[in-house]
Amino acid sequence: MIDRRGGDETVDVVLRGGTVVDATGERRADVVVRGRHVVAVGPDLSGDVVVDAGGCVVAPGLVDLHTHLRQPGKEEAETVESGSRAAALGGYTAVLAMPNTTPAIDCAAVVREVLELGRDALCDVHTSGAITVDRAGERLAPMAEMAGLGVRLFTDDGTGVQDDRLMRRAMEYGRGLGVTLAQHCEVTSLSEGTCMHEGEWSSRLGLPGQPAEAEELMVMRDIALARLTGARVHLLHLSTAGSVAMVAAARAGGLSVTAEAAPHHFTLTDACCAGYDATFKVHPPLRSDADVAAVAQGLADDTISAIATDHAPHAPEEKERPFDEAPPGMLGLEYALALAITQLVDSGPRMPLSQVLARLSWQPAAIAGMERHGRPIAPGAPANLCVIDPEARWTIDATGGASRSRNVPYVGRTVRGLVRHTICEGEPVVLDGEAQR
Ligand code: DOR
Repeated sequence: MIDRRGGDETVDVVLRGGTVVDATGERRADVVVRGRHVVAVGPDLSGDVVVDAGGCVVAPGLVDLHTHLRQPGKEEAETVESGSRAAALGGYTAVLAMPNTTPAIDCAAVVREVLELGRDALCDVHTSGAITVDRAGERLAPMAEMAGLGVRLFTDDGTGVQDDRLMRRAMEYGRGLGVTLAQHCEVTSLSEGTCMHEGEWSSRLGLPGQPAEAEELMVMRDIALARLTGARVHLLHLSTAGSVAMVAAARAGGLSVTAEAAPHHFTLTDACCAGYDATFKVHPPLRSDADVAAVAQGLADDTISAIATDHAPHAPEEKERPFDEAPPGMLGLEYALALAITQLVDSGPRMPLSQVLARLSWQPAAIAGMERHGRPIAPGAPANLCVIDPEARWTIDATGGASRSRNVPYVGRTVRGLVRHTICEGEPVVLDGEAQR
């Protein structure tokens, strides 16, 4: 969205010894970057600076469709700077900021502020815009003025738009603007007062549960409205088997409906809530084993086009509150790739790594209309790349990495796949796992 960086035009950086994996396939090749672009791809290339990619996969940089950067308003939990640093360390070259900030990103002035904050960030910072003023679900936000600044995706994320007629209008308007309407699917009349998934575990723990239908009713409505209006609709953080089945049917029927899933929804179940630790509280909630398997399968068969982190930092004192009072959300940017490899390649549906990269990079880039990201690695392409050691195993710790928050629900898990280097707009922003500025 902002053209702010640029490697040195006089220096050739060569990523040497890796296997290039992109939307066109897989090949052993070195990659030379000059300025902001890839200038050569092939065997035995040389350059002024050599970056070791031996034994590694060189892929288009990852693209996160769902990042809570918390700025403006909740800088104690995250900033554009700290969140984009976590993103770069996680292999991301672009993130899409969610609009549930204070104030909400619901007009041109706040869009400009976030883009300005992202200007010097370690990855490309794009923003979504709210569908309704202050995300209150009552009046449409000035979508056209935000679209004029490059906003391509509109959502009230954190809540869903409850009013059917207003959502219909948003879709009609959005269709005219050529933008995508993204929904946090949750019917509040069924979810109000709940704090976890409704099932065996909520009964055992004595916590008020939210039925899968709270999500599914809105998925059903938005698919119906997509059919009615012809709008492009993206369904955020799908968590239930029923939702996955409805999206599969909608896509088979030719509707412009895409969906994403978050790492926690293919990794963790509602049983994780057994210790009343609010680190495991999230919206939509962690679901049953069957739902987790259906989400993983939906990613494998491409019903769900994107893995999106829903990186949702919260200050420690917030997350230390009792389960029913704590805010929902968990970190994801530095763990998504490794969790995807561990849960989707090494177990579960056993996807090929290239398919996992499709869900993490070029497919989300296409959904968000980010033309400089996810592109095949070829001369002339923007140099937005990540270099992954697919064999490295590591254990997730409780530090929270570069985030200002520490709400990590994966502590102690050993995972496979480590980001070695990230190149953003030609600049090596992460080398050997270390941020370069
Ligand atoms: O768990 C969540 N946290 N789900 C959301 O939709 C919002 C997010 C947040 O902003 O903390």
